[in-house]
Order: sequence, then structure tokens, then C-alpha cells
Amino acid sequence: MSDEDVQLEARLEEQEVFEPSASFAEQANLTDEGIYEEFEENWPECWEGAADLLDWEEDYDQVLDDSNPPFYEWFTDGTLNASANCLDRHLAERGDEAAIEWVGEPVEEDNITYTYEELHQKVNEFAAGLREMGVGEGDVVTMYMPMIPQLPIAMLACARIGAPHSVVFAGFSADALATRMNSADSEYLVTCDGYYRRGDPLDHLDKANEGLSGVDHEVERAIVAERLMDGDGFDHDYADNQVAFEDIIADNEGATVEPVDRDAEDMLFLMYTSGTTGKPKGVKHSTGGYLAWAAWTSQAVLDIKPEDTYFCSADIGWITGHSYIVYGPLALGTTTMMYEGTPDYPDKDRLWDIVEEYEADQLYTAPTAIRAFMKWGKEYPEQHDLSSLRLLGTVGEPINPRAWKWYYKHIGGEECPVVDTWWQTETGGMMITTLPGVKDMKPGSAGPPLPGNDVRIVDTEGEEVQPGRAGYLTVNKPWPGMLRTLYKNDERFIDEYWAEYSDTDSDDPDDWVYFPEDGAKIDEDGYITVLGRVDDVINVSGHRLGTMEIESAIVGVEGVAEAAVVGGDHDIKGEAVYAYVITEDGYEETEELRSAIIEGVEDAIGPIARPEAVIFTPELPKTRSGKIMRRLLEDIANGEELGDTSTLRNPEVVSDIATKVQGD
Ligand code: WT7
Repeated sequence: MSDEDVQLEARLEEQEVFEPSASFAEQANLTDEGIYEEFEENWPECWEGAADLLDWEEDYDQVLDDSNPPFYEWFTDGTLNASANCLDRHLAERGDEAAIEWVGEPVEEDNITYTYEELHQKVNEFAAGLREMGVGEGDVVTMYMPMIPQLPIAMLACARIGAPHSVVFAGFSADALATRMNSADSEYLVTCDGYYRRGDPLDHLDKANEGLSGVDHEVERAIVAERLMDGDGFDHDYADNQVAFEDIIADNEGATVEPVDRDAEDMLFLMYTSGTTGKPKGVKHSTGGYLAWAAWTSQAVLDIKPEDTYFCSADIGWITGHSYIVYGPLALGTTTMMYEGTPDYPDKDRLWDIVEEYEADQLYTAPTAIRAFMKWGKEYPEQHDLSSLRLLGTVGEPINPRAWKWYYKHIGGEECPVVDTWWQTETGGMMITTLPGVKDMKPGSAGPPLPGNDVRIVDTEGEEVQPGRAGYLTVNKPWPGMLRTLYKNDERFIDEYWAEYSDTDSDDPDDWVYFPEDGAKIDEDGYITVLGRVDDVINVSGHRLGTMEIESAIVGVEGVAEAAVVGGDHDIKGEAVYAYVITEDGYEETEELRSAIIEGVEDAIGPIARPEAVIFTPELPKTRSGKIMRRLLEDIANGEELGDTSTLRNPEVVSDIATKVQGD
């Protein structure tokens, strides 16, 4: 490093507050700090501005109906169509502009640009096909697809005819697909033959078929998009109820479908996510409030303008991709990028290559990716001209200040604000982050709540804690993008999110408090640092996994008597899965069993849940009342000094396990 570099590093290392650059602030969509006060005084009417970003078929009567908390309704009696908002209304001005820039993983393949006109056409054709096969308003259509254009086409086609979609991440297992289709009573599936991962074709239809065989009701139709190139296909005969995506498009060439008028509160989609106990939860999102929230936050926080090329490297199979690859950006009429592959194929500069080629204006990614970029080294971004970038974002997990500063310096050239956005599948969109043209940034802290959001850090009694002290994050006012319920399970909805801090007998909205199950602290300036989950959910590379789900997969393996799963610290992934396993009598602690356990987890959930370590132990540390002491297992995984073990029934087991882990 040159002297200048060394000085710069030292300065960055110490700096705790970063101002948005003048060049950014000048052109930002939001520039007036007064918005915070204005929204507070004018709540909930302040959210009319978000609704105004959309075209409504029928105007709404009331911004918020809070007469039956926590079943809040936003923009009541308004009607609209999400696909019309993302496509039709842009045609006159932006029909020839790119809506989606799709980049496949293989470098030798041609990328595809869909103009708004073209995307609109495909969506109409596919919508006509869905209708023809009997998909009606309210029917849940499941999608099990990787990052290929047919996915947003199918989503928007569903939105057009009022059929909610339920997208299942392609990396999830066949079992996970079946569970979700069963839970949603979904009779339609859109999937694909395969896709490319690090240069190799992957057989996806095989997994999809296996999932279909686990569906407990009749599946009307499975639609298969053909993504693999000639010669890469796998041998599959289509079943009678299976049909090629491309055939549906071809059969409906030129068709148009009137967008169906949907009530603001009608379900736009379901998204399954992990919770503390048992089965994944079907988070239900609305049409009006959700779309308004996705659009407003895209404009306010990501600073998206129609003429931008915006790049979010998430997968559409997660909520980030729903809100910030598809719905938010397209509602604003911008160009959204979709990249099929991984950031290290064919080399570790792939994202920078894409940013340079498409002159991306924004990049929105996850801390886990940033930590990997950091490890790979600054020489990769340095090979590319990244000067088109105007704003950087992160989401999914806490970002450590060192990674934040690396991102700020080596990707943003110290010119781009970094927005660290805290939110959840359930919140529909961003909740806590700086407004990039208005607020200073503090690395490691997401920032203040967005205007109009009432977020507090409280103790177990619900009392606000002092700045600097750790507490629980709560949201004390409803917001348009909020989940409406858990699919067909209002009771669990109340139990999981509201029971902790609300008076559940009251119908006064002031008595209802949303609990996201995150720990956090707040500083004197109202900046919030999110510390992580306080429930039995772990966060691997920004992906939420329930420890219970993993444990039940492990005890399903022959030879396993008991299992406890915890998250251990991981340099790149944030957290990694550590599985402590007791074998059944008569079974040995063998490498075969270890592999069977790992395979069992991959089959039940998917490779993202793959245990980093499987630790065999004769016993698990338990309290006298029989509760597993997870904290101790976490400390062991992290190689930390072990705290008090005196409340244990079996303290001697702890050092045995610790010795084992160090030995591994
Ligand atoms: C959990 C939600 C939001 C879309 C992707 C994840 C953690 C999310 C941050 C952040 C610290 C964060 C929380 C949250 N999280 N963003 N900026 N800083 N933690 O959605 O799968 O529903 O997970 O991710 O723990 O509860 P999700």
C-alpha cells in the first residue's frame, strides 16, 4: 500500500459518522429532513404519498382502518392491479425502455433485455394461458424457480388475474416445496427444467417432480420453463398434467388480458418463512399496502428513478427479490437487473463486470456477500469501472463496521451513501435505515426508523430502555407494507407477532405492539443497531432458518436419538449451523452417520441449512427442568469461555463436548 492508502485506511478506521456526498444529496429523491416531523404530525395520512405512487382503479375511502387490531386495513375500498401498475402504465412513456436486464450465468450465452412493451406482452400471454387452464382469482400458484425471466413473468401474470403467487426458493429441497404447496392448498406449479450453477447445468425438474409426489392433493398443472441450452437438458418425460412454459406463451401469442380489479386488501402473494416452532409460516401480503410500501421505499431509500439501471443481487425466491427486484423497481418504471448465477463465476469479479457493463446506478446486496468480496480482495473491483454507482445498500443481517467501510470505499469510491436496511419478510419492505440524501450514516447501525414508523427498544416489560442498552425491537404503529396475517392461521399470527407486548383483549390500536423477535440498541441520536434474532431462528448468509426445522430433519435420520441446533459465528456467513447429536442405542458415531445427517438436512430443507459441524455427544447440557441450554452450545461452537453451568443437571457434559469441538 502507498502512504496515501495507509493514511486513508487509518482515517476510515476511526471515522464513525459519514455524511452523504454533496453530489448525491443534490440529486436525491428526498432531501428535506422535515419529512420526519411532517410524517409524525400527519400520521397515518402521510402514507397517502405512498399510495399516490400507484395508479388506482377505484380511489380508497380511508387511509387506515384500525378498528380491529391487529388486522389493520390500508387504503380501504381502493382497487388496483399490481401488474397494471408495474407494466401497463409505463407503456406510453417507457414502452421501449428496458424493464428487465437478464444476465445468465454462462458467459458465452446472450443476455436478454425485456423492454416494458415486451415484458407486458409476455405477461399477458402467460396470464391468458393460466386462465385457460382454469386458474381463477384467489387460486394460489406456486413457483419453484431460479433467477430466470419466466419467474417475474409468471408472478406478474398471476397478479394480473388476481391469483396470489407463492414463490419457493429454488435452492430449497423437494420436501420444502411439498410442505409449502400442501400448506397453501396450491394446485398449480410453475417450475423449470434446470439452471446453471458455477458452470454446470443443474437438474431442477427432478427435484420439482419429487416435491410434486409429496403433494397431498391433486395438482392441476405443472408448467415447466425450459431454461437449459441445447444439449444440457436432462431426460424427463412430462407427466399428463405437465406442460412447457414456452408452449403456453406460443399458444397465446398476441393475447391480451384485462388486469383484474383487486381490492387493496386482497392477497398479492404468500411467502413462507421460518419461525420459532414447527412448520414454516405463510406470510400474507396485500395488494395495495404492500405495493405502495415497496414503491415508496424504493424511491425514498434506494433513490430509484425511472432512468436508472438498478441492480439487486438477491434471489427473487426471497422477500428481498419480491420487493426490490420485481415490485418496487417495476412500479417505479425503472430498469431492474436479474443475474442468474453466483458472484464468483467464472471469476470473483462477476458482479463488478455486470455493474460496469450495464452502468448500474445502485447495488443492493447482503453483508455475507460483502464479507466474501472483502476476503477475495480489492483487486477484483479495481479491475472495473464502477463509477456509474450512485448508491449502495445492504440487507439481511447486521453488517460489521469493517465490512461497511470496505463496501463504502472499494465499491462506492467514498461517493455513494450506504443504506443498511433493516426489515423482514413480514414487514414487506424497509423499516429502519437512513434516508440517503438526508441523514448521516453510522457504520454498524441501520439508522433511525423511516419517517412515519414508530420503532422502540424495550425491556421484557415493554418499557423503553436507555440509549446504549440492549433490548427488544418493537414496532408500535402499523404500516402499509405489514403482513396481514399468517395464511389461514390468524391465531398463530397473533401468538407469534403480537402476544408478547400487546393487550390482546383490547381493540384499541395503541395497545397493540408488533414484535419482530430481534434484539437491538438505540443511541442518543435515535440510531438503531440491530443485534440479531432473540428467538430460535438463525441467520445463515442472510437466510432465516428455524433451529426446530433443522432439528426435526436430523432426528428423522435413522440412528439419531436427539439433536440440538444452534448458530455459531462464521466469518463470511454471519452464522453457521452447528448440530449436536445424540445417537440411538446400538448406533455408532460414524462418518457415515454424519454424512447421513448432513444429507437429511439438505433433503428436508436444502443446502443452505447444511450443518457446518455435526458434533456427536452422549448428552446435551440441560437445566434441571430439562431445557436444553442453547446459550452454552453456542458458546462452545464459538470457542468462547463458558459461562455459569451451575444450573445444569449434567455440568460435566459441557467440557466433554467442548473438548470434542476443539478436536474437530
Ligand atoms: C431478519 C429477517 C429483509 C429481507 C431479508 C431477510 C435480520 C434483516 C437486517 C439488518 C440486522 C437484519 C433480522 C430480521 N435482518 N436486515 N439490516 N441488520 N439484521 O428477511 O428472512 O425475513 O429475515 O433478518 O434478524 O428479523 P428475513
